[in-house]
Amino acid sequence: MSDSKKVDGWGSRLGVILAVAGSAVGLGNFLRFPGQVANNGGGTFMIPYFIAFILLGIPICWVEWSMGREGGRFGFHSCPAIFGAVGRNRFWRYLGVVGIIVPLIIYMYYIVIESWCLGYALSYAFGMIDLGENPADYTARSSAFFDSFVGMNQDGFLSEGLVPNRLLLWGGVFVINFILIFNGISKGVETFCKWAMPMMGLCAFAVLIRVLTLDVATPEFPDRTLLNGLGFMWNPKPAADGGPWWMTLGNSGVWLAATGQIFFSLSVGLGVIINYASYLKRDDDVVLSGLTASSINEFFEVCLGGLITIPAAFMFLGAAGAVGSTFGLGFNTLPIVFEYMPAGRVFGFLWFFMLFLAAITSSISMLQPAIAFLEEGLQLKRRASVALLGLLTALGSLFVIYFSKGMLALDTMDFWVGTFFVFVLATMQVILFGWGLGIEKGMEAAHRGAEMRIPRIFSFIIKYVSPAYLLTVFVFWCKQNVPKYWQTLGEGGVPLYAVCLIGVFFLFILLLIHIASERWDTVSWDGESLEDGL
Ligand code: ALA
Repeated sequence: MSDSKKVDGWGSRLGVILAVAGSAVGLGNFLRFPGQVANNGGGTFMIPYFIAFILLGIPICWVEWSMGREGGRFGFHSCPAIFGAVGRNRFWRYLGVVGIIVPLIIYMYYIVIESWCLGYALSYAFGMIDLGENPADYTARSSAFFDSFVGMNQDGFLSEGLVPNRLLLWGGVFVINFILIFNGISKGVETFCKWAMPMMGLCAFAVLIRVLTLDVATPEFPDRTLLNGLGFMWNPKPAADGGPWWMTLGNSGVWLAATGQIFFSLSVGLGVIINYASYLKRDDDVVLSGLTASSINEFFEVCLGGLITIPAAFMFLGAAGAVGSTFGLGFNTLPIVFEYMPAGRVFGFLWFFMLFLAAITSSISMLQPAIAFLEEGLQLKRRASVALLGLLTALGSLFVIYFSKGMLALDTMDFWVGTFFVFVLATMQVILFGWGLGIEKGMEAAHRGAEMRIPRIFSFIIKYVSPAYLLTVFVFWCKQNVPKYWQTLGEGGVPLYAVCLIGVFFLFILLLIHIASERWDTVSWDGESLEDGL
């Protein structure tokens, strides 16, 4: 076992909870969630959302925490090795490829968005966002700024807006991530999250208080009150065909959206929690810690993410201005809101800096699974693993930046990896725990050192309900999306090159797992045989 592994581990319980919560709280909470609520029935969306939270989010979170800590007992920290140990089978190691690919590829595009957040924060700090004097121009100017910032209209590094300083911005963010990871779990990730999470909370609260104390209704627009803004976000909306609100619940797309949001937001099925939990000690609590980290995430998502973006947009722009896609709301609509808002420049800075902090505590968690894999599978030292991973992720990330037109590369990677393979990984984990390891053994392992007991009903949920729920949602998801994707593949819709990039990384990691697997077969870990049981 390499030296770096001996010293790696969480320094405190608060540290691990904040790190897992930091991984969970991210762009998904503040940008993705409000758009999902507004576009999927308003308050009605919260029904499938909370059902997915109880039947999938919480149970699979406990599954990941428990399996990760078990893997850590044998000195394993990577998903392939943990899967192999828990499943008692080499085959599971190969399936663990998904647990490396998902965080790795999400990192490649996530960090690009992270650099936009920092770029916008700096643009506010230096007064570089100018939407002009005439409110009638705000929308066009805000869109033009964003399009040029991300190179929306043209591929290439030096296209339209992608001037070198934007690349420098990306490079800076990339380096910060790797410096934190290089410093390890306790000195890098934990120390940073202990500082960044409270700071993020403070920034979010400052913006929230500003939004909740706005009074912008005028005789011309008397309905633009805070209460109406909150109502626009949270009241159940009539169904798409004009029917009563509950008809929305018959739309499978809404259930899919809710499930995808729960996974992405909690970082469940991302291969991250299983890795972070592997650095726990043998008897550290996982049940209460897992629940606490998930609750922190829900607080940030529902109470902060849900109360800022759309109510603020409604108050300044009315109902028509408060709808839009994830990026549309975050990067086009909000700058207009800050333009209207008193002291908008300060709040614009706070908002985007908060997004940057939220994103970086998530992106570092996406690097650690691959670092762990390279170190324990290939016996690389920290310096070599960081260098190799830096090279791989830089290539993938520059690929996303280069193919910026219409964000097609980013969207394709998000579709296949950020949604499809997240479902696959979550499903594999719950089946491995409930059936491969066995629910009785699994629950016994989860309860070792636990500060609260998991209600008995969850044994049934994990074994039967979660897999059945996931498989149903998965079938509907494939039915709804996959044919559409095949049709447009390579025809100006879905870029084939992005799908190929994912395929190449898949094969490469599979090859590395094969090499690592031969080594794992011959190594005795920490003097404890796998047969000693979990
Ligand atoms: N859980 C992270 C987010 O919500 C990935 O952005």
